[in-house]
Amino acid sequence: MLITFEGIDGSGKSTHVAMLAEWLRKQRYTVRVLREPGATPLSEAIRGVLLDAGQRIAPVAELFLFCAARRQLVEEVIRPALAAGEIVICDRYADSTLAYQGYGRQLDLEMVRRVIGYAIEDVVPTVTFVLDLDVPTAMMRRGERGPNATDRMEDSPHAFFERVRSGYRAIAAREPSRVVLLDATEPIEVVQERIRAIVQRCLPTGVAIGAG
Ligand SMILES: Nc1ncnc2c1ncn2[C@@H]1O[C@H](COP(=O)(O)OP(=O)(O)O)[C@@H](O)[C@H]1O
Ligand SMILES: [Mg+2]
Repeated sequence: MLITFEGIDGSGKSTHVAMLAEWLRKQRYTVRVLREPGATPLSEAIRGVLLDAGQRIAPVAELFLFCAARRQLVEEVIRPALAAGEIVICDRYADSTLAYQGYGRQLDLEMVRRVIGYAIEDVVPTVTFVLDLDVPTAMMRRGERGPNATDRMEDSPHAFFERVRSGYRAIAAREPSRVVLLDATEPIEVVQERIRAIVQRCLPTGVAIGAG
């Protein structure tokens, strides 16, 4: 199964990915954690281009770069891992592209959905957690992580992140059977409990293989 985490930076994705992976590994599931964009040599190279503060990238070019990185990840890593029965957890996936390039950069949503569809084909998440958090709190939490957090994607103005956040909420409203919207202002343990309860219900039974 494929589990993805979404939300603006500072919303708690990496925190919950790590906690969920640890919990699943304790139950002896084989878990693969991936970071988007990245996790293959080509995808990491594209990530470098995307995050380079010196680059001016046209919005549609940006859309294709993200989708190129993702397609490579799907073919090289995600599809084989899923075929082997692993639980794959992605820190960002296709909904990031719809939220940032679609809602954030205000590209045509249908066009963005179509491009994403070409990139991922049937590799759609079993469940997606959207960590919903107001922009000022997210920025404060990121600040707590220390300086040097300014890359090209995060340079954009406040209004951009407000659009991304509402985009994520719209995505959750549109696909309630796949996407779970979580209130990320609640304590980490409370949010993680909700996540575990939902994952528990989706877990494959009897295929807990290896030590992870
Ligand atoms: N529910 C929460 N309440 C308070 N602080 C949180 C919560 N979730 C995450 N944090 C903190 O916010 C910061 C950003 O979290 P992180 O997981 O790195 O977010 P992301 O990966 O989405 O950018 C970290 O310092 C983390 O400990
Ligand atoms: Mg993170």
